[in-house]
Amino acid sequence: MNKKMNIAIDGPAGAGKSTVAKLVAEQLDYLYIDTGAMYRTLTLAALREGIDLQDGGALTHILSQTTIHLQHEQTGVRVLLNNEDVTDAIRLKDVTSNVSLVSSHEGVRIEMVERQRRLAEKGEAVLDGRDIGTYVLPDAEVKVFLTASVEERARRRYEEQKEKGMPADLDQLKEEIAHRDQLDSTRVFAPLKKADDAVEIDSTTLSIPEVAEVIIGLAKERAR
Ligand code: DC
Repeated sequence: MNKKMNIAIDGPAGAGKSTVAKLVAEQLDYLYIDTGAMYRTLTLAALREGIDLQDGGALTHILSQTTIHLQHEQTGVRVLLNNEDVTDAIRLKDVTSNVSLVSSHEGVRIEMVERQRRLAEKGEAVLDGRDIGTYVLPDAEVKVFLTASVEERARRRYEEQKEKGMPADLDQLKEEIAHRDQLDSTRVFAPLKKADDAVEIDSTTLSIPEVAEVIIGLAKERAR
């Protein structure tokens, strides 16, 4: 594909966005930008510093002094917080249960969005998140809103955690996912929402490669 385009993949927690986005980026030789990892990294930094997570000003200040780097390696993307590898730490429960609150603050989002736009400015990037198609890159050439039933999303997380040897409770995961969806879609500033021009893909009964294929098809269509 000659045209340098950006691909936005939004949707609720656990719909498979990051796995799909990674695969699409790999197949098109595009840059993968995991915007959720950026909010998670700030959440980890704030928890470590004992900052009040209701305090948007304090969080915005901490963010201004924090470097978050998504380092692309053969084995995947490593996430660096001020040069420390926090790839695994940002997936821990404490971060997951607080990230919606941290990411709800307008000051935090404005700074993050600026960083995300800079990362994508050359084009040829796949970004996954909640507000990419509506707010970060409203002109993205391909916009996808990826969904799946809460049951299916919880089941996938459950399998993932079991594979990693982490304790998992299906009902609890279902509750956590539904709660995070609710917080992410009802926040005032740039909430989780399907962009009017996004293509909705329900992945409940589709495999990751099948979803990736649909998205690559959309990209090829746009490149014509
Ligand atoms: O994709 P994820 O589960 O790693 O994202 C973690 C949280 O970050 C999610 O619950 C909401 C927030 N987020 C956001 O507000 N906007 C984005 N573009 C990406 C993530």
